[in-house]
Amino acid sequence: MIKEDKQLVSKIKELKKKHNAVILAHNYQLPEVQDIADFRGDSLELSRMAAKTEAKVIVFCGVYFMAETASILSPDKLVIMPDASAGCPMADMMTADDLQKLKKAHPQAVAVGYVNTSAAVKAELDYCCTSTNAVKVINALKDAKEIIFVPDKYLADYAAKQSGRKLIIWHGFCPTHVKILPEDLAREKRFHPQAKVMVHPECLPQVVALADAVLSTSQMAKFAKEDPAKEFIVGTESGLVYRLKQDNPDKEFYLASERAVCPNMKRTTQEKVLWALEELKDEVKVPEEIRKKARLAIERMLEIA
Ligand code: 13P
Ligand code: SF4
Repeated sequence: MIKEDKQLVSKIKELKKKHNAVILAHNYQLPEVQDIADFRGDSLELSRMAAKTEAKVIVFCGVYFMAETASILSPDKLVIMPDASAGCPMADMMTADDLQKLKKAHPQAVAVGYVNTSAAVKAELDYCCTSTNAVKVINALKDAKEIIFVPDKYLADYAAKQSGRKLIIWHGFCPTHVKILPEDLAREKRFHPQAKVMVHPECLPQVVALADAVLSTSQMAKFAKEDPAKEFIVGTESGLVYRLKQDNPDKEFYLASERAVCPNMKRTTQEKVLWALEELKDEVKVPEEIRKKARLAIERMLEIA
Protein backbone atom coordinates (compact mmCIF):
# COMPACT_ATOMS: atom_id res chain seq x y z
CA MET A 1 0.00 0.00 0.00
CA ILE A 2 2.72 2.44 1.04
CA LYS A 3 4.78 1.31 -1.98
CA GLU A 4 1.79 2.01 -4.26
CA ASP A 5 1.39 5.50 -2.77
CA LYS A 6 5.07 6.18 -3.30
CA GLN A 7 4.77 5.13 -6.93
CA LEU A 8 1.78 7.38 -7.37
CA VAL A 9 3.57 10.35 -5.85
CA SER A 10 6.69 9.84 -7.95
CA LYS A 11 4.55 9.59 -11.11
CA ILE A 12 2.83 12.86 -10.15
CA LYS A 13 6.22 14.51 -9.64
CA GLU A 14 7.46 13.22 -13.01
CA LEU A 15 4.42 14.56 -14.89
CA LYS A 16 4.57 17.83 -13.00
CA LYS A 17 8.12 18.36 -14.23
CA LYS A 18 7.29 17.27 -17.78
CA HIS A 19 4.40 19.75 -18.07
CA ASN A 20 5.98 22.52 -15.99
CA ALA A 21 3.01 22.38 -13.65
CA VAL A 22 2.37 23.72 -10.17
CA ILE A 23 -0.01 21.99 -7.74
CA LEU A 24 -2.12 24.21 -5.47
CA ALA A 25 -4.09 22.85 -2.51
CA HIS A 26 -6.57 24.81 -0.44
CA ASN A 27 -6.16 24.47 3.34
CA TYR A 28 -9.27 22.21 3.46
CA GLN A 29 -7.91 19.54 1.10
CA LEU A 30 -7.28 15.94 2.24
CA PRO A 31 -3.90 15.50 3.99
CA GLU A 32 -2.48 13.36 1.15
CA VAL A 33 -3.40 16.07 -1.36
CA GLN A 34 -1.85 18.80 0.82
CA ASP A 35 1.29 16.64 0.94
CA ILE A 36 1.84 16.72 -2.85
CA ALA A 37 1.09 20.43 -3.25
CA ASP A 38 3.67 23.08 -4.09
CA PHE A 39 1.56 25.68 -2.28
CA ARG A 40 -1.10 25.44 0.42
CA GLY A 41 -3.18 28.47 1.16
CA ASP A 42 -6.49 30.29 1.34
CA SER A 43 -9.02 31.02 -1.37
CA LEU A 44 -7.19 33.91 -3.02
CA GLU A 45 -3.54 33.61 -2.04
CA LEU A 46 -3.09 30.35 -4.00
CA SER A 47 -4.07 31.99 -7.28
CA ARG A 48 -1.84 34.96 -6.52
CA MET A 49 1.12 32.70 -5.78
CA ALA A 50 0.55 30.66 -8.95
CA ALA A 51 0.36 33.82 -11.08
CA LYS A 52 3.88 34.73 -9.92
CA THR A 53 5.41 31.39 -10.99
CA GLU A 54 6.82 30.49 -14.39
CA ALA A 55 4.60 27.38 -14.50
CA LYS A 56 2.61 26.69 -17.66
CA VAL A 57 -0.01 24.53 -15.95
CA ILE A 58 -1.90 25.08 -12.68
CA VAL A 59 -3.44 21.99 -11.05
CA PHE A 60 -6.04 23.42 -8.67
CA CYS A 61 -7.04 21.16 -5.77
CA GLY A 62 -9.94 23.10 -4.33
CA VAL A 63 -13.38 24.14 -5.54
CA TYR A 64 -14.53 25.58 -8.86
CA PHE A 65 -14.59 29.31 -8.06
CA MET A 66 -10.96 29.06 -6.90
CA ALA A 67 -9.85 27.55 -10.22
CA GLU A 68 -11.79 30.30 -12.00
CA THR A 69 -9.92 32.86 -9.91
CA ALA A 70 -6.63 31.26 -10.99
CA SER A 71 -7.78 31.54 -14.62
CA ILE A 72 -8.70 35.22 -14.06
CA LEU A 73 -5.22 36.02 -12.72
CA SER A 74 -3.24 33.71 -15.05
CA PRO A 75 -4.99 33.79 -18.45
CA ASP A 76 -1.93 32.43 -20.24
CA LYS A 77 -1.60 29.34 -18.06
CA LEU A 78 -3.62 26.16 -18.47
CA VAL A 79 -5.74 25.76 -15.30
CA ILE A 80 -6.99 22.23 -14.62
CA MET A 81 -9.02 20.67 -11.81
CA PRO A 82 -8.60 17.02 -10.78
CA ASP A 83 -12.36 16.98 -10.05
CA ALA A 84 -14.21 19.84 -11.71
CA SER A 85 -17.48 18.73 -10.10
CA ALA A 86 -16.18 20.13 -6.79
CA GLY A 87 -18.25 23.28 -6.45
CA CYS A 88 -18.88 25.63 -3.58
CA PRO A 89 -22.57 25.53 -2.55
CA MET A 90 -22.25 29.04 -1.12
CA ALA A 91 -20.89 30.45 -4.39
CA ASP A 92 -23.70 28.64 -6.24
CA MET A 93 -26.33 30.41 -4.11
CA MET A 94 -26.01 33.56 -6.23
CA THR A 95 -26.08 33.92 -10.02
CA ALA A 96 -24.98 36.94 -12.08
CA ASP A 97 -28.66 37.51 -12.85
CA ASP A 98 -29.47 37.63 -9.10
CA LEU A 99 -26.78 40.26 -8.59
CA GLN A 100 -27.92 42.33 -11.55
CA LYS A 101 -31.43 42.43 -10.07
CA LEU A 102 -30.10 43.40 -6.63
CA LYS A 103 -28.03 46.19 -8.20
CA LYS A 104 -31.10 47.44 -10.11
CA ALA A 105 -33.07 47.57 -6.86
CA HIS A 106 -30.26 49.62 -5.25
CA PRO A 107 -28.81 51.77 -8.06
CA GLN A 108 -26.81 53.94 -5.63
CA ALA A 109 -25.05 51.00 -4.00
CA VAL A 110 -21.43 49.92 -4.39
CA ALA A 111 -21.36 46.14 -4.93
CA VAL A 112 -18.87 44.15 -2.84
CA GLY A 113 -18.61 40.37 -3.17
CA TYR A 114 -16.78 37.61 -1.39
CA VAL A 115 -14.18 35.71 -3.41
CA ASN A 116 -16.53 32.69 -2.99
CA THR A 117 -18.49 33.70 -6.10
CA SER A 118 -18.49 32.57 -9.72
CA ALA A 119 -16.43 34.55 -12.25
CA ALA A 120 -19.71 35.74 -13.78
CA VAL A 121 -20.80 37.22 -10.42
CA LYS A 122 -17.34 38.77 -9.89
CA ALA A 123 -17.71 40.50 -13.27
CA GLU A 124 -20.76 42.33 -11.84
CA LEU A 125 -18.93 43.52 -8.71
CA ASP A 126 -17.24 46.82 -7.98
CA TYR A 127 -15.00 45.20 -5.38
CA CYS A 128 -14.07 41.65 -4.55
CA CYS A 129 -13.03 40.79 -0.97
CA THR A 130 -11.79 37.82 1.04
CA SER A 131 -12.52 36.76 4.59
CA THR A 132 -9.12 38.27 5.47
CA ASN A 133 -9.90 41.76 4.17
CA ALA A 134 -13.74 42.11 4.04
CA VAL A 135 -13.81 44.61 6.94
CA LYS A 136 -10.93 46.61 5.45
CA VAL A 137 -12.69 46.85 2.08
CA ILE A 138 -15.98 48.00 3.69
CA ASN A 139 -14.12 50.53 5.86
CA ALA A 140 -12.47 51.98 2.76
CA LEU A 141 -15.85 52.71 1.15
CA LYS A 142 -16.50 55.78 3.32
CA ASP A 143 -18.19 57.76 0.54
CA ALA A 144 -20.53 54.97 -0.54
CA LYS A 145 -24.18 55.82 0.20
CA GLU A 146 -25.16 52.15 0.21
CA ILE A 147 -23.16 48.92 0.09
CA ILE A 148 -24.31 45.58 -1.29
CA PHE A 149 -22.42 42.64 0.23
CA VAL A 150 -22.86 39.15 -1.29
CA PRO A 151 -23.29 36.19 -1.09
CA ASP A 152 -22.50 35.19 2.54
CA LYS A 153 -24.99 36.61 5.04
CA TYR A 154 -22.79 35.60 7.98
CA LEU A 155 -19.59 37.18 6.68
CA ALA A 156 -21.78 40.21 5.91
CA ASP A 157 -23.08 40.22 9.51
CA TYR A 158 -19.52 40.10 10.83
CA ALA A 159 -18.30 42.85 8.45
CA ALA A 160 -21.33 45.03 9.30
CA LYS A 161 -20.72 44.69 13.06
CA GLN A 162 -16.99 45.39 12.72
CA SER A 163 -17.38 48.37 10.40
CA GLY A 164 -20.59 49.79 11.85
CA ARG A 165 -22.03 49.98 8.30
CA LYS A 166 -25.47 48.76 7.32
CA LEU A 167 -25.10 46.34 4.40
CA ILE A 168 -27.57 45.15 1.77
CA ILE A 169 -27.10 41.41 1.94
CA TRP A 170 -27.88 38.19 0.07
CA HIS A 171 -29.11 35.00 1.73
CA GLY A 172 -26.08 32.81 0.98
CA PHE A 173 -24.19 30.80 3.59
CA CYS A 174 -21.68 27.97 3.90
CA PRO A 175 -23.46 24.68 4.66
CA THR A 176 -20.31 23.37 6.35
CA HIS A 177 -19.56 26.28 8.69
CA VAL A 178 -23.17 26.54 9.89
CA LYS A 179 -22.80 23.03 11.33
CA ILE A 180 -20.46 24.42 13.99
CA LEU A 181 -22.75 25.26 16.92
CA PRO A 182 -22.31 27.34 20.09
CA GLU A 183 -22.64 24.14 22.16
CA ASP A 184 -19.66 22.66 20.27
CA LEU A 185 -17.47 25.52 21.44
CA ALA A 186 -18.85 25.26 24.99
CA ARG A 187 -18.11 21.50 25.07
CA GLU A 188 -14.55 21.88 23.71
CA LYS A 189 -13.94 24.73 26.16
CA ARG A 190 -14.98 22.44 29.03
CA PHE A 191 -12.51 19.78 27.82
CA HIS A 192 -9.73 22.28 27.09
CA PRO A 193 -10.17 25.33 29.33
CA GLN A 194 -6.76 26.80 28.41
CA ALA A 195 -7.38 26.67 24.64
CA LYS A 196 -7.88 29.78 22.53
CA VAL A 197 -10.93 29.67 20.26
CA MET A 198 -10.45 30.72 16.64
CA VAL A 199 -13.41 30.66 14.24
CA HIS A 200 -14.00 31.52 10.59
CA PRO A 201 -16.32 34.48 9.84
CA GLU A 202 -18.50 32.13 7.74
CA CYS A 203 -19.71 30.69 11.09
CA LEU A 204 -23.03 31.57 12.71
CA PRO A 205 -23.02 34.94 14.56
CA GLN A 206 -23.69 33.09 17.86
CA VAL A 207 -20.47 31.12 17.27
CA VAL A 208 -18.48 34.18 16.20
CA ALA A 209 -19.57 35.90 19.44
CA LEU A 210 -17.88 33.17 21.51
CA ALA A 211 -14.49 33.30 19.75
CA ASP A 212 -11.19 34.76 20.91
CA ALA A 213 -10.26 35.43 17.28
CA VAL A 214 -12.27 35.57 14.03
CA LEU A 215 -9.94 34.65 11.18
CA SER A 216 -9.64 33.37 7.60
CA THR A 217 -7.76 30.08 7.14
CA SER A 218 -4.46 31.81 6.31
CA GLN A 219 -4.90 34.11 9.29
CA MET A 220 -5.52 31.05 11.52
CA ALA A 221 -2.26 29.50 10.27
CA LYS A 222 -0.42 32.72 11.18
CA PHE A 223 -2.20 33.21 14.52
CA ALA A 224 -1.50 29.63 15.65
CA LYS A 225 2.21 30.15 14.98
CA GLU A 226 2.53 33.56 16.58
CA ASP A 227 0.21 33.36 19.59
CA PRO A 228 1.84 32.08 22.80
CA ALA A 229 -1.13 29.74 23.52
CA LYS A 230 -0.33 26.02 23.36
CA GLU A 231 -3.87 24.81 22.64
CA PHE A 232 -6.45 25.96 20.10
CA ILE A 233 -10.07 25.10 19.34
CA VAL A 234 -10.51 25.36 15.57
CA GLY A 235 -13.87 26.57 14.31
CA THR A 236 -13.57 25.90 10.61
CA GLU A 237 -13.48 23.03 8.11
CA SER A 238 -11.61 19.93 9.31
CA GLY A 239 -8.80 20.00 6.71
CA LEU A 240 -7.02 22.98 8.25
CA VAL A 241 -6.16 21.00 11.41
CA TYR A 242 -3.70 18.84 9.44
CA ARG A 243 -1.72 21.90 8.36
CA LEU A 244 -1.88 23.49 11.83
CA LYS A 245 -0.49 20.33 13.44
CA GLN A 246 2.29 20.05 10.84
CA ASP A 247 3.30 23.70 11.22
CA ASN A 248 3.15 23.60 15.05
CA PRO A 249 4.20 20.16 16.34
CA ASP A 250 4.51 21.49 19.89
CA LYS A 251 0.91 22.76 20.03
CA GLU A 252 -2.50 21.02 20.26
CA PHE A 253 -5.44 21.67 17.93
CA TYR A 254 -9.01 20.53 18.55
CA LEU A 255 -11.60 20.65 15.76
CA ALA A 256 -14.70 22.44 17.12
CA SER A 257 -17.08 20.02 15.38
CA GLU A 258 -16.58 16.71 13.59
CA ARG A 259 -19.49 17.80 11.36
CA ALA A 260 -17.43 20.58 9.81
CA VAL A 261 -16.42 18.63 6.71
CA CYS A 262 -16.92 20.16 3.24
CA PRO A 263 -17.71 17.23 0.90
CA ASN A 264 -16.64 19.22 -2.16
CA MET A 265 -13.21 19.89 -0.69
CA LYS A 266 -12.76 16.14 -0.17
CA ARG A 267 -13.50 15.16 -3.79
CA THR A 268 -9.91 15.61 -4.92
CA THR A 269 -7.59 12.63 -4.37
CA GLN A 270 -3.99 11.85 -5.33
CA GLU A 271 -5.26 9.48 -8.07
CA LYS A 272 -7.37 12.26 -9.60
CA VAL A 273 -4.35 14.60 -9.52
CA LEU A 274 -2.38 11.98 -11.44
CA TRP A 275 -5.12 11.51 -14.04
CA ALA A 276 -5.48 15.28 -14.43
CA LEU A 277 -1.75 15.56 -15.16
CA GLU A 278 -1.83 12.59 -17.55
CA GLU A 279 -4.70 14.01 -19.60
CA LEU A 280 -4.21 17.72 -18.86
CA LYS A 281 -7.87 18.19 -17.97
CA ASP A 282 -10.50 19.27 -16.87
CA GLU A 283 -9.65 22.75 -18.02
CA VAL A 284 -11.22 25.75 -16.28
CA LYS A 285 -11.12 28.83 -18.50
CA VAL A 286 -12.97 32.08 -17.88
CA PRO A 287 -14.13 33.79 -21.11
CA GLU A 288 -12.11 36.94 -21.81
CA GLU A 289 -15.00 39.42 -21.52
CA ILE A 290 -15.95 38.15 -18.05
CA ARG A 291 -12.31 37.73 -17.04
CA LYS A 292 -11.41 41.38 -17.67
CA LYS A 293 -14.33 42.69 -15.59
CA ALA A 294 -13.80 40.18 -12.77
CA ARG A 295 -10.11 41.03 -12.65
CA LEU A 296 -10.96 44.70 -12.15
CA ALA A 297 -12.97 43.84 -9.02
CA ILE A 298 -10.00 41.85 -7.69
CA GLU A 299 -7.52 44.63 -8.53
CA ARG A 300 -9.67 47.24 -6.79
CA MET A 301 -9.65 45.04 -3.68
CA LEU A 302 -5.85 44.63 -3.85
CA GLU A 303 -5.42 48.41 -4.02
CA ILE A 304 -7.23 48.68 -0.66
CA ALA A 305 -5.85 45.61 1.09
P1 13P B 1 -10.44 31.06 3.26
O1 13P B 1 -9.47 29.94 3.05
O2 13P B 1 -10.22 32.15 2.27
O3 13P B 1 -10.46 31.53 4.68
O4 13P B 1 -11.92 30.53 2.89
C1 13P B 1 -12.57 29.56 3.56
C2 13P B 1 -13.52 28.82 2.70
O5 13P B 1 -14.55 28.39 3.14
C3 13P B 1 -13.14 28.55 1.34
O6 13P B 1 -14.15 28.01 0.63
FE1 SF4 C 1 -17.87 26.57 -0.01
FE2 SF4 C 1 -18.09 26.25 2.62
FE3 SF4 C 1 -17.01 24.33 1.19
FE4 SF4 C 1 -15.72 26.65 1.55
S1 SF4 C 1 -16.24 25.17 3.12
S2 SF4 C 1 -15.94 25.51 -0.37
S3 SF4 C 1 -17.43 28.09 1.58
S4 SF4 C 1 -19.13 25.07 1.04
